[in-house]
Amino acid sequence: MIEDKGEEAIDVKRLKGREDLKVYGDVFEPQTLKALYKLANRRVFERFRGEISVGKEANVFLAEDEDGAYLALKIYRLGTADFRNFRIYIEGDPRFAYIGSRRKMVKLWTSKEYRNLLRLAEAGVRVPALIDVFGNVLAMEFIGTDGTPSRELRLAPSDTDWGDVFDHLMADVRRAYQKADLVHADLSEYNILLHEGSPVIIDCGQAVLTVHPRAEEFLRRDVHNVRAFFSRRMEVPSEEDLMAHITGGESNGS
Ligand SMILES: Nc1ncnc2c1ncn2[C@@H]1O[C@H](COP(=O)(O)OP(=O)(O)OP(=O)(O)O)[C@@H](O)[C@H]1O
Ligand SMILES: [Mg+2]
Repeated sequence: MIEDKGEEAIDVKRLKGREDLKVYGDVFEPQTLKALYKLANRRVFERFRGEISVGKEANVFLAEDEDGAYLALKIYRLGTADFRNFRIYIEGDPRFAYIGSRRKMVKLWTSKEYRNLLRLAEAGVRVPALIDVFGNVLAMEFIGTDGTPSRELRLAPSDTDWGDVFDHLMADVRRAYQKADLVHADLSEYNILLHEGSPVIIDCGQAVLTVHPRAEEFLRRDVHNVRAFFSRRMEVPSEEDLMAHITGGESNGS
């Protein structure tokens, strides 16, 4: 799954001026290199092992620390990220009062994902464990096996225990809502990894607090997307029942 862009691992100390980095497009600009050096100096990682994904706003890389342990680096692109839709998730969130320049916005967004991941993990939601953040670069647990990333739920094999995955997922969405006061707001089979048979929720930058004026609308959309995916594979409760389960007061151990 990792795209092999050439030879061996790339040492972070040799990133600058490397012609072959051009294959990664415009992600490695000076401010990003600075952030990467910072994280390397903090011993968060030492080498790049390849590119996991190129998204609309960020590139995700597989990296390795000095002990050979894998981690994932999510690098939000400062120049070419598509941030037009970001405002609706930030405005209305009392944690983020002011948005300045575009670059500031990207860094704010990165720290928003960091804080959301932290909050979700504290609430017991299965998300990639946080390692560190600097500027527009987020370091987190690599979800995968032997350097191969776990598949997105949309690519899960047909013999997956759908009922079990669905129950885990709904318990996590409820925990996120009840304990972390967060709604993911971009939940779908693209932002859930299936790791060792269990769902791991990723891509939490846009998650909003439940006090956000559009939180209920976003939650309904999340439920709708997840339900649509699972309903093609199993019988699922109605949208209303799921909404009630997630937001309702009754405690059933989750
Ligand atoms: N911690 C991780 N471990 C393993 N793989 C990961 C991890 N984080 C992200 N990925 C992989 O990278 C892909 C993109 O990650 P993510 O959804 O966070 O970024 P994105 O840039 O928002 O994507 P897009 O812009 O397309 O929505 C994921 O679908 C997943 O395959
Ligand atoms: Mg994504």
